[in-house]
Amino acid sequence: MNIIETLQNAVKKALKELKIEAGEVIIEHPADLTNGDYSTNVALVYAKELKIKPLEFAQEIKNILDVQKIKYIDKLEIAGTGFINFYLSQEFFDENIEEILKQKENFGSSDLGKNKKVIVEYSSPNIAKPFTIGHLRSTIIGDSVANILQFLGYKIIRDNHLGDWGTQFGKQIVAIKRWSSIEDVKNSRNLPAQAGQMKTLVDLYVKFHQETEKNPELEDEAREWFLKLEKGDKEAKEIYDITVEASMKYFNMIYERLDIKPFDTLHGEAFYEPMLKGVLEDIEKAGIARKSEGAKLIFFENEKYPPLMIQKKDGATLYATRDLATDKYRNKEYGKDTLVINETGVEQSLYFKQIFEIEEMLGYFAKKNRVHIGHGFIRSKDGKMSTRKGNVVWLEEVLDEGVARAKVINEDIAEMVGIGAIKFNDLKREAKQNIIFDWDEIVNLKGDSGPYLQYSCVRARSIVAKAEVVRVKLLQSCRSLTLTTVLERLLYRFPEVVYRAGKEYAPHYIAQYLLEISSAFNNFYAQNKIIDKDDPASAYRVVLTHAFSIVIANGLNLLGIKIPEKM
Ligand code: ARG
Repeated sequence: MNIIETLQNAVKKALKELKIEAGEVIIEHPADLTNGDYSTNVALVYAKELKIKPLEFAQEIKNILDVQKIKYIDKLEIAGTGFINFYLSQEFFDENIEEILKQKENFGSSDLGKNKKVIVEYSSPNIAKPFTIGHLRSTIIGDSVANILQFLGYKIIRDNHLGDWGTQFGKQIVAIKRWSSIEDVKNSRNLPAQAGQMKTLVDLYVKFHQETEKNPELEDEAREWFLKLEKGDKEAKEIYDITVEASMKYFNMIYERLDIKPFDTLHGEAFYEPMLKGVLEDIEKAGIARKSEGAKLIFFENEKYPPLMIQKKDGATLYATRDLATDKYRNKEYGKDTLVINETGVEQSLYFKQIFEIEEMLGYFAKKNRVHIGHGFIRSKDGKMSTRKGNVVWLEEVLDEGVARAKVINEDIAEMVGIGAIKFNDLKREAKQNIIFDWDEIVNLKGDSGPYLQYSCVRARSIVAKAEVVRVKLLQSCRSLTLTTVLERLLYRFPEVVYRAGKEYAPHYIAQYLLEISSAFNNFYAQNKIIDKDDPASAYRVVLTHAFSIVIANGLNLLGIKIPEKM
C-alpha cells in the first residue's frame, strides 16, 4: 500500500472513533518541509460541520493517531489553524532509497495505463510553409507528454498531423510553374541542403502573395490547380510531391536535432481526404448542420460556441472537416476507448472545444476521451521572433544559436547542451503560459536551466563512479549515522510527480521537481564530503548521491533531454 493511502486510512479510522464518516481525506505535501512531509486539513473541514474549534478538534484527532502508531510516521504536529502534519521516519526513507537503487531506470514508472491506448498528436507542421517556433513548442511538449504516459504504462501512438492538403497547394503549384521549376527547387543549395529547398519553397509562397496584390487573377489560377490536384492531375501531383519531399527532409532534419522519438504515424490531412464524404454523410444523418449563405455550418446548443463551418459554398471541405474525419478514422482503427490528445497553440483552443462537441454528437469520441493541450506564444526580448509576413524565423537558426551559446559551457557537447537548454526552457513552465525567449536565461549553468540539470546529473554520476573505485560499504551498515536530509525527503516523491504530470498532461511538474532536487543535491554536496574513506557515513552519502543520479536521469529522460557523459 502506498503511504498516502496509509495516512488516509489512519485518519479515517480516527475520525470514525470520533463518530465521523469521512468522505475523501486530502493528504498533501506542505509547501515547506519544515511543516513535515504530509499534511491534512480534515480537522478544519469537519470542525466547521460540527461547529467546534478546529484547533481543538485537530488535537483530538492527533491524540488518537498518536496511539495508533502509524507505520513510517515518526511524529505528528499541529500547525496553523488546525492542520495536522506528518513526519516520515528514517526507515521510510531508507526503504525508498533502496527501492530507487533497485528499480533504477524504471523508478517512477507504473502500469497505471495497462491496456489503454493514447494517441498523442503533436508537431504537425505544414508542407511548404515554415516550421514555426509554435511547431517547435508542440514538438517538445508533445514528445514529453508521450514519454510520460508511456512511462505510466499506456500504449502510445505518436502521430504527426501534417498540414499537407488544402488550397495553398494550388498557390504553391502556380508559384513554382511561373517563377521556378521542379528542377530549380531540387537544385536549391544552401547549408544544410535540406534547408535550401525549403527556403526556396517558402520564398515562392511569399512571392505568390505579393504578386496577387498586383494580379488578383492568380488566385483563380491557384484554385484551378488545386482542383486539378484533387482530381489526380499528373503534373500537379508531381509538383505537389516535390514540395512534400523537400519539406519532410527539412522537418526530419529538425526532428533529428531535437532528438524526439520517431512518429508511429504521419497521417497528414491528405490521408483523410478520401474519408470526408463519409463524415459529411454522418453529419447529414445526425441532422446537426444548417446551410447559411450556401455554406454548411454546425450550430451548438444554446449558442455555447460560435457555429463551425464544415463545407464551403463551392463544396470544398475545410481543416475542421478533415479533423472530424481524422477522429472517425481513429475510432475505427484504435477503438472508442482510446484517449486522443492534440497539442497545438492556444489560439486553437476554442476550435478544439467545437470539434470535441461535434465528435460527441457524431459518436466518434466522448468528450472525456478528448484532450487539447494549448501552448502559449514565444516572443523574444526584442520582439524579433514574431513572424510577420516575409519575416520568417528559421528554426535551425534558433537551434544553432542555442548550440553556439552552449559552446561557452563546453565545446564538445554543445549540441546536446544547447538543444537540452531550449527544450527545458519550454518544459519548465505550464504549456499555456507565454514565453519571453531570453538566451541568457536559457543557456545558463547557474539558473533554472537545462544545462544546470545536466550538470547536476553528471556531477552525481561522476561521484558514484569514483566511489565505486574506493569501494564504499553498504547502506545498511551506516544507517542511523546521519540525520535525514532534504534530499531523501524529496526523492521518494518522484513517482507522485510523474503521476501528476501524466494525469494533467503537464511535463512542467517534472521539470520543476528536477530543479528542486538538484538544488537539494547541490546543497548536500556543498555541505558534505561525500567520499571519505575514514568516515563510516560516507557509504550512505554515496548511496544517496546514486539515488539522486537515478531520479534526475529518469526525469530528464521523460523531458527528452540528453545527459552528457562529462560536462
Ligand atoms: N498544421 C496545423 C498548424 O500548423 C496544426 C494541426 C493540429 N492538429 C490538428 N488535428 N488540427 O496550425
